[in-house]
Amino acid sequence: MCGIIGYIGVKPAFPILLSGLKRMEYRGYDSFGFRVLDSDNEPFFYKKTGKISLAEPELLTMKVKGRVGHAHTRWATHGQVTDCNAHPHLDCKGDISVVHNGIIENYKELREELQREGHKFVSQTDTEVIAHLVEKFFDGNLECAVKKAVGFLRGTYGIVVISKNDPDKLVAARSGSPLLIGVGENEFLVASDPAAVVSSTKKVLYLNEGEVATITPENYFIFTERQPHEIEWSAEDVEKGTYPHFMLKEIMEQPSSLKNSLRGRLIVEEGRAQLGGLKSVEERLRDIDKMYIVACGTARYAGLVAEYMFEEYAGITTKVDAASEFRYRKSTMDRKSAILVVSQSGETADTLAALRDAKSRGILTLGITNVVDSTQARETDAGVYNHAGPEIGVASTKAFTSQLEVLALMALCLGRQRQLSNVMGQRIAAELERMPDLVELALKCAPHVKELAEKYKDSENMIYLGRKYNNPIAMEGALKMKELSYIHAEGVAAGELKHGMIALIENGFPAIAICPSDSVYEKMISNIMELKARGARVLAVATEGNEEIVQIVDDVIYIPKTLEMLTPILSVIPMQLFAYYVAAARGCDVDKPRNLAKSVTVE
Ligand code: M6R
Repeated sequence: MCGIIGYIGVKPAFPILLSGLKRMEYRGYDSFGFRVLDSDNEPFFYKKTGKISLAEPELLTMKVKGRVGHAHTRWATHGQVTDCNAHPHLDCKGDISVVHNGIIENYKELREELQREGHKFVSQTDTEVIAHLVEKFFDGNLECAVKKAVGFLRGTYGIVVISKNDPDKLVAARSGSPLLIGVGENEFLVASDPAAVVSSTKKVLYLNEGEVATITPENYFIFTERQPHEIEWSAEDVEKGTYPHFMLKEIMEQPSSLKNSLRGRLIVEEGRAQLGGLKSVEERLRDIDKMYIVACGTARYAGLVAEYMFEEYAGITTKVDAASEFRYRKSTMDRKSAILVVSQSGETADTLAALRDAKSRGILTLGITNVVDSTQARETDAGVYNHAGPEIGVASTKAFTSQLEVLALMALCLGRQRQLSNVMGQRIAAELERMPDLVELALKCAPHVKELAEKYKDSENMIYLGRKYNNPIAMEGALKMKELSYIHAEGVAAGELKHGMIALIENGFPAIAICPSDSVYEKMISNIMELKARGARVLAVATEGNEEIVQIVDDVIYIPKTLEMLTPILSVIPMQLFAYYVAAARGCDVDKPRNLAKSVTVE
């Protein structure tokens, strides 16, 4: 999705804006632009479609002066991908410029009204109305004009506005799209993503819904006085290092990201988990008998694994829904229900909408997110952070395994509040503690998976199957394959095969079967036999030491043995690697797959 950065301070703004935009490239974009104010000359203004790297040699030859500016990466929603539709957008006189994330739903009415008043529009975007509205209200003070303008907007926005007629400030406003202020030494930044500011400062402060901020070279002013907090990670964490892609780096980081997600949260001897973020709602949690887990994409698959965990170990009826569906459902939640939203970014528009709907009905709202102080973190009643470190690759990997781990910790907490025995609690806790080491072992399959990827890379279709805890992993494996390699892949509950999907199977059809040695292993073997009988080429993920499977399938990847409820954390590792290596072998843009964005902040 779109990315915003603004700068004001003692340094030349342009290099900082350029490096900030590059750090947000991972979010996905199709065009970009800059505007920098210069007290001696006309502002520098540049907008272009395509990749920043292609324009960089030209940009680096430009002499851009000025210490106030803003920049943007656009992911088209309203209007085609053209230079003109890229941000920033200007008012009629070219004094005021706006960069915007989000969607202005009433832009058509506003545009017509402004056109009737004589404003001239040049782009097809919804954003341009903001520039003209600010122009309409501008009488020398930019923040007053922005405050008036946003009062007319319906929809979502995170905006940064500058004007050459009030040049010593940035004005930022948000409603529904995240924005943060980075507080540096003699400089301030405004961005939609902490990755954009982390090389300048680690002190950040997120704007709250509806807030407008004015940032000058000396200070920032928001309606509500609040303190900035420290970003937990460093600039190196958002760099690839020696890895060819962020995705591979993030897959390989999982032993340490999982360690960080567990730190201080397990009391193995007592068979308990302590989640500080849930302390304040401990008593309310004891009373709930229904849990609604709501999320999107990969985070929803983590929720589907938790459905099995919560039902088996805590005896809580659990329902999992895509946030985009849940928000339009007439849900029967009551006072004994809680909603648990799961989101890596904490900014996914549909997930936030579902959360707000539940909150307005007085339901207990819980969250799991990787981004400290994100909108989700601030709006839930209680929650748990992943502490998995920044995830840059569009494909979610280390955030997913961390979500599974945190959900297992929650299952342990909820279970111990109910019928889960001390002994079983201790087994789960001890096994959770081993997870980072087991993942380290699971990652050793990488060279073998790379070889297999060469064998399977030219497939047009794939089917992924699993049962029980690994049914969601089949769906996650297929999603990874689709989003990265553009191979059509479907994840199914293996028992559903013969209700339709098996009609697709013919000689050589690739089937990925996740069949660890667990309570449904024999059922999985029967499903694999059905596929083999119809000529499928089967790649199985099995538990170390299983020799039988080699006689049945074409290829095997082994994972270490663990408790059934925790197998997904291990079985997803070869799925991530397989999708990565197939996509890389097909020459796909692994970190920035086409049409996708890292954080989906529009409905
Ligand atoms: O930030 P979120 O966890 O809320 O994002 C949800 C999905 O958009 C995300 O998991 C998406 O499915 C990933 N591209 C999957 O790799």
